[in-house]
Amino acid sequence: MRPALRAVLLLPTLVAAGLVDVVERAVSGVVDCATCHSALPTFKALAAFGDDKFVQTITAACIDLKIEDADVCEGAIRTQGPILAHDLRHFSLFGDTATKFCDAVFGMCALPPATPWMVPFPKERPDVERVWQSRGREPVKVMHFSDVHIDREYTVNAEANCTKPICCRDFGGERPKHVQIPALPLGVRTCDAPGTLADSMLEAAEKMGARFSLFTGDVIDHAVWDVDEENVPRNMLAFTDQFAEKLSTPVFPALGNHESAPTNSFPRDTTEHQITADFVFNAQRQGWSQWIGENATKQIQHHSGSYAVMAPGMDLRIISVNTQYWYKQNFWLYDSDEHQPDPNGILAFLVGQLQAAEDAGQRAWVVAHMPPGRGDVARDQSAYFDQVVQRYKNTIAGQFYGHTHADEFAIGYSNYSERTAENAVSIAMVGPAMTPMSGNPAFKVYDIDPDSYEIMDVRSYYTNISDPDYQLKPTWRLLYSAREDYAPLVPSLPPNASLSPAFWHNLTEVYYRNDTAFQAYIAHKHRGWEFVRRPCVDGCKNGTLCDMRTLRSDVCSQQSGPVFHIPDHGHLSFAPEMSSCEGSGIGGILRKMAARGVVQKVRTNTVTPLPCSCCYSSHLMIPRCFVGTRSRPFSVSSPRNVMDLSDCLR
Ligand SMILES: *[C@@H]1O[C@H](CO)[C@@H](O)[C@H](O)[C@H]1NC(C)=O
Ligand SMILES: *[C@@H]1O[C@H](CO)[C@@H](O)[C@H](O)[C@H]1NC(C)=O
Ligand SMILES: *[C@@H]1O[C@H](CO)[C@@H](O)[C@H](O)[C@H]1NC(C)=O
Ligand SMILES: *[C@@H]1O[C@H](CO)[C@@H](O)[C@H](O)[C@H]1NC(C)=O
Ligand SMILES: *[C@@H]1O[C@H](CO)[C@@H](O)[C@H](O)[C@H]1NC(C)=O
Ligand SMILES: *[C@@H]1O[C@H](CO)[C@@H](O)[C@H](O)[C@H]1NC(C)=O
Ligand SMILES: *[C@@H]1O[C@H](CO)[C@@H](O)[C@H](O)[C@H]1NC(C)=O
Ligand SMILES: *[C@@H]1O[C@H](CO)[C@@H](O)[C@H](O)[C@H]1NC(C)=O
Repeated sequence: MRPALRAVLLLPTLVAAGLVDVVERAVSGVVDCATCHSALPTFKALAAFGDDKFVQTITAACIDLKIEDADVCEGAIRTQGPILAHDLRHFSLFGDTATKFCDAVFGMCALPPATPWMVPFPKERPDVERVWQSRGREPVKVMHFSDVHIDREYTVNAEANCTKPICCRDFGGERPKHVQIPALPLGVRTCDAPGTLADSMLEAAEKMGARFSLFTGDVIDHAVWDVDEENVPRNMLAFTDQFAEKLSTPVFPALGNHESAPTNSFPRDTTEHQITADFVFNAQRQGWSQWIGENATKQIQHHSGSYAVMAPGMDLRIISVNTQYWYKQNFWLYDSDEHQPDPNGILAFLVGQLQAAEDAGQRAWVVAHMPPGRGDVARDQSAYFDQVVQRYKNTIAGQFYGHTHADEFAIGYSNYSERTAENAVSIAMVGPAMTPMSGNPAFKVYDIDPDSYEIMDVRSYYTNISDPDYQLKPTWRLLYSAREDYAPLVPSLPPNASLSPAFWHNLTEVYYRNDTAFQAYIAHKHRGWEFVRRPCVDGCKNGTLCDMRTLRSDVCSQQSGPVFHIPDHGHLSFAPEMSSCEGSGIGGILRKMAARGVVQKVRTNTVTPLPCSCCYSSHLMIPRCFVGTRSRPFSVSSPRNVMDLSDCLR
C-alpha cells in the first residue's frame, strides 16, 4: 500500500483517538516563543509514543488541513519527522535547545546570544604578517557555479502548473489529460532545472577558459518529500559526470544542504542514532576524487564532507567545508541540551588547514554552501567562525558561498560595532543559482590576481529564460562586471588594485547615498529577473544593506525583528526565507499549519492582517502574503481568501 494512502486510511482512527485534533490545536496555538514553549509538552508526549505515531499524526494533520498534497505531506513528514521526534525525546523543556528548536521549526523565538567559547588556535597571530603583493601579472579566470538543483525526473510536456512545491514531473507516473502549461525542454520558472540547462550553461562556461571552477553546492532538486538514500547519491554522481564531461578543468565543489536524505539531515557524531550521512560522503568521494585527488578524498571521509586542495599551479589552498552542521534546519542540532561548539570538528578542520596555509606561506579560500552571516546559520557557530576569520584574515584571500540563490556579496569586519572601510577584513562572494525557480540561470567568473589570489573583477553571466529564443538556443550574456559597473562608483579604488573588502564596504556607502546604484545592484542580485518590478526600499533596503555588511548571523537579526525575516514590498526572498514561502519540508509544513490558526482568527476578525507584505512564490509569480502581526507573520498560500491581492501589488 502506498504510504500516503496508509496515512489517509489511518486518519479516522487517529481522529477518533483525538490525537490529530490535539496536534492541530497545539500547532495552531503557537503564536510566539512563549506559546511554542507551552506546546512543547504536547509534542514531547506525541514523540514519546514513538516515531510511527508521531509521523502518522502529523501527516494526518497535514493532509486534513490540506497544507500540501497528500504525497508531499507523507514524504516530508515520514523522512524528517523522526528527527524532530528524536529531538523532542532528548532536549529538556527549559533549556536553550528548546528555544532554538522553537526558532528553527516555527520561527518563533528571539535567540539567545552566542554562547561564549574560544576557538582553540594552534598558534598566535604572527606579529608581522606576510604582505601579498600583486606583480601586475595577467589575471587567472575562475568560475563559480551554485545551486544547480537539477531535477533528474524533469519531464518535457509534463504539467508545469501543479500544486506541489516543484512541478514538471509525471508524479506517480501519470500525466493529467489536459496539461495547462507544458514543461519546456530547457526549463520553466515553476520547476527545477532540466539536465539540458546545465549542459547549456557548462558549454558556455567552458569557452571562458577558466583555470578551475568552484561549485558551492545544492545539486539535488527541491522535491524534498521524495529524496532517499538511493536517488540522492545517484543524482550527485550524475552531476559530477555532467561537469566532468563538459568542463576541461577541475571543479572544487562544496556540499549543499540538499545533498542528503532526508534533506538537511547531517547527524552529529554525538547523535545516538543509527542514521549517518556516510552515503553522502561516499558519493562525494566517488564523484569528486577525479578533481581533488587522493588525500582530499580521504579527508572527506574523516571530516564529514570537508576537504582542502591546492589550486592547480598556485600557492592557494582551497578549503571546502561542510557547513550543514551550522545550519538551523539541520534538525539533528537539537538532539541534546549539551552545548556542542564544534559539531563534527568542522571548525577544527578549517583552523588546521588555515594554520597549514599560514605556515607554508600560502593564501587560502574558504568555499562552502551557506554564507555564515545569514539568519539561518546557528549563532554559536557563526560567532566561532568569525573568530577564525579574525585570526586568519591575512591568509584568507576570499570566501565563496551559494545557498541564497542570489548574486550577492558579504563583508566581514574586525569590529561589528564600527563597520568601516578600515575595519573591513574579509570579502565573501555569493554565487547565483542556476535553477530557474528563483531567477534567471546564472554563474559568476572571477579574474584572480595570480600573486595575491585576490579578486580583480567579478563578472556575472545569465541566460534570459523569458527570451523568445530561449527554448531554441539559450544565449549566455554578461549581466555586469563589478570592475566596469561598480568600481567607477568608488573613485578611491586604484585601477590596478583588487576588489578588496574596503572597496566593497565603500560600495555599500555609495548604496546608502545613491539609490539608482542600489536598485541596479538589486536587479543584478536577482539575476536580471524582470519580475522584480518594484524598487527595494525601506525595510528591504535596510535588510539588504545589513546583510551585505556581515559575516555574523547575529548582526542583522536585531534590525529585522525578533522573529523571522519578513520580506517587504518588492523584496524577492530566497532560501531561507523562500522556505517559509515554499514550505515543502516539515518545518515549512508546521509553520503553515500554525498559520492556519492565524488565518482563522483573521476571518473572525480577532487578528488584524499585516499591512500585507509579500514575497514571490515560485508558482507562476503569485505573491505569497503574510498575515498576522509583525511579531507573528505567516505565509498564506491563497491570499485571496484573506485579503485582496491588489493590496500586495500596490
Ligand atoms: C494553474 O492552475 C490553477 C489551478 O488549477 C488554475 O487556477 C490556473 O488558472 C492555472 N494557471 C494557468 C496559467 O493555466
Ligand atoms: C598526500 O599526503 C601525503 C602524506 O601526508 C603527502 O606526503 C603527499 O604530499 C600528499 N599529496 C598531495 C598531492 O598533497
Ligand atoms: C569597536 O567599536 C566600538 C564603537 O566604535 C568601540 O567602542 C570599541 O572599542 C571597538 N572595539 C574594539 C575592540 O576596537
Ligand atoms: C598600481 O600601479 C602603480 C603605478 O603603476 C604602482 O605603483 C603600484 O605598485 C600598482 N599597484 C598594484 C597593486 O599593482
Ligand atoms: C574607502 O573609503 C575610505 C574612506 O573614504 C578611503 O580612505 C579608502 O581609500 C577607500 N578604499 C577603497 C579601496 O576604495
Ligand atoms: C548614482 O549611480 C549611477 C549608476 O547606477 C550613476 O550613473 C550616477 O552618476 C550616480 N549618482 C551620483 C550622484 O553619484
Ligand atoms: C528578458 O527577456 C524579457 C522578455 O523579452 C525582457 O522583458 C527582459 O527585459 C529581459 N531581461 C534581461 C535582463 O535581459
Ligand atoms: C532603516 O534604517 C534606518 C537607519 O538605520 C532607520 O532610521 C530606518 O527606520 C530603517 N527603516 C526601516 C523601514 O526599517
